[in-house]
Amino acid sequence: MNTRIPRAWASLLAALPIVARPSAAQAPLTVASPDSRTEVRFEVRDGHAVYSVIRDRRALILPSLLGFEFRGARALRDSLRVTGSSRQSYDSTWTQPWGEVSRVRDHHNELRVSLAETSTPVRKFDVVFRVFNDGVGFRYDVPTQPSLNTFEIQEELTEFSLADDAKSWWIPSNRPRLDRSEMLYSSSPVSLIDSVQTPLTMATRDGKTVLVIHEANLVDYARMNIRGGRMENRTLHAALAPWADGVKVRGHTPFVTPWRTIQLADRMADLAPSVIGLNLNPPSVIANTSWIKPMKYVGIWWGMHVNTMTWSSGPTHGATTANAKRYIDFAAANGLGGVLVEGWNTGWDGDWIQNRNAFSFTKAYPDYDLAEVARYAHSKGIHLIVHNETSGGIANYERQMDSAFALYHSLGLDAIKTGYVTDTVDGGHSHHSQFMVNHYRHVIEMAAKYGIMVDAHEPIHDTGERRTYPNMMSREGARGQEYNAWGSDGGNPPEHETNLFFTRMLAGPMDFTPGIFDILIERGTGRPRRAEESRVRTTLAKQLALYVVLYSPLQMAADLPENYEKQPAFQFIRDVGVDWDTTRVIDGRIGDYVIVARKQRGGPEWFLGAITDEEARAFDVPLSFLTKGQNYIAEIYADGPDANWLTNPLRVTISKRPVTSTSTLHVVLAPGGGQAVRIRPAP
Ligand code: NOJ
Ligand code: CA
Repeated sequence: MNTRIPRAWASLLAALPIVARPSAAQAPLTVASPDSRTEVRFEVRDGHAVYSVIRDRRALILPSLLGFEFRGARALRDSLRVTGSSRQSYDSTWTQPWGEVSRVRDHHNELRVSLAETSTPVRKFDVVFRVFNDGVGFRYDVPTQPSLNTFEIQEELTEFSLADDAKSWWIPSNRPRLDRSEMLYSSSPVSLIDSVQTPLTMATRDGKTVLVIHEANLVDYARMNIRGGRMENRTLHAALAPWADGVKVRGHTPFVTPWRTIQLADRMADLAPSVIGLNLNPPSVIANTSWIKPMKYVGIWWGMHVNTMTWSSGPTHGATTANAKRYIDFAAANGLGGVLVEGWNTGWDGDWIQNRNAFSFTKAYPDYDLAEVARYAHSKGIHLIVHNETSGGIANYERQMDSAFALYHSLGLDAIKTGYVTDTVDGGHSHHSQFMVNHYRHVIEMAAKYGIMVDAHEPIHDTGERRTYPNMMSREGARGQEYNAWGSDGGNPPEHETNLFFTRMLAGPMDFTPGIFDILIERGTGRPRRAEESRVRTTLAKQLALYVVLYSPLQMAADLPENYEKQPAFQFIRDVGVDWDTTRVIDGRIGDYVIVARKQRGGPEWFLGAITDEEARAFDVPLSFLTKGQNYIAEIYADGPDANWLTNPLRVTISKRPVTSTSTLHVVLAPGGGQAVRIRPAP
């Protein structure tokens, strides 16, 4: 029998809608990590695309849905079939211009699966999986097609169906438009998660695996938060941050989503430094990165938070030319690279959160001569960090950005600190919405154009932008030191930084602003603050250790310069590195303690930081990471006798001892304490 269809019939059939029919069972597609321990399995079940993740032959993520819901169009979720697949393997090592490590290996196996609906309108999309030894990334890649052109995503249907009711550590995200990341961490079994931010860190109950859900390369899309499954228990859902009208993403094909990442490790201590997100971002588009320099900085800043200075004009205005020069002199005398000046520009008088549109980004207060301060900073080899607080007035900022950055550039200024301190930005959009994702990216790109480094406060979360734009240096995006200055809500408890290390810090550098020596904030209050008031809830030695533990290429010496006077411990801040060749997490447990060693980039020195929560702890740390055969001197800044964050926070014992790679350091940490060690080659 002739089965060929006459040509006229064929064109008629092509014009007819294809009737949905159960697709023939298709074999699952799998792709494994280079070390073969992790496997991703993709299959279509009852017309639904699902993926699962298996490690050491044990299911970690059970079959979990993929797809989209649109406004005004049918969901892209049902009656799917696999129309093709392709594979690739990749192994290369690249160098970061700056970072926690200088060299990063990108070694993964990729599986691309092409899918199409079996019924009209036969929309199609690909899902791309990359499986690394340290985790899995996947994203949607939707090609141009007549039946899917412009769209409004109402929900991304990505699920993460946990096989285990793992313990999780998180900050909430259940305030759709009052979305901040400046919160304290909680923990719960994943089955009790309501609505949380990423990175979401989880540990299986048998203690064998740690998982971290986050995203990479967030461009022109909404930020992903995570919603719990309620009745479905351990199934977590992607929850995209909305525009003011509730739509999550507006766009048109072709488009790719950010990568959804599941970092995997056997132990908490193996999570950092986290590079999976960097590997899933495109390489740098800035050809010459020599102007991008990690540095320590001081600032006209803490004074405003402890009420000895004001941002606004008046008798205690912080940003005066004379004051700025004093800070520049201090930075230059102590080998610090930068000076941040807040409150230099007009707009701070009155309610600067309400009056967002009053901010000028070019016009200085009369007592601050921007050009003169720039000239003076330059003459001392100091980078001025120009503050740009927007209060969420995005239109006001975007209107001025080009001319403001051009002005800074013309004055030789190459760093800004941005701020978005408000609950809702212009138009009522979420801080985490596509609207804001695009704004934050616009700032990075415009800054790159003018040779400007960026430190963003109230930022979008870090999804590895620094690989493509190494001028995107640091950001806040968590509760920083400033919470210790405010009287409001008790500051940061002693365990806070041990939570940050295994959660927020896995996304990227944080401008935490360590280094407060006036732990009881006496200078602001004229008396030591009481325990129940907001004050710094660490020992002084722990403040030093934070320079090593909490990575930032822009690392602040946050206290008032006068609080560093006659303080021998300040020598550690002078000495500590800000750019690292190697990072080794020696030990750590979320919420309890962290011990990290980092080797300076371009130099032979190592620095070690150890911090604890409210419990005293002692460790023996073998220095086997040091170069064999080399003699070193360890300069140790330890909690002094009876030091205690609550009752005796200031005592620091500074000592020196010769060490080699066969030595062991006995590290004793006071309650809420820490230890900072510089290890330099012996002369
Ligand atoms: C909040 C930022 O985190 C802080 O660093 C800054 O001083 C204030 N906003 C004012 O912009
Ligand atoms: Ca802040």
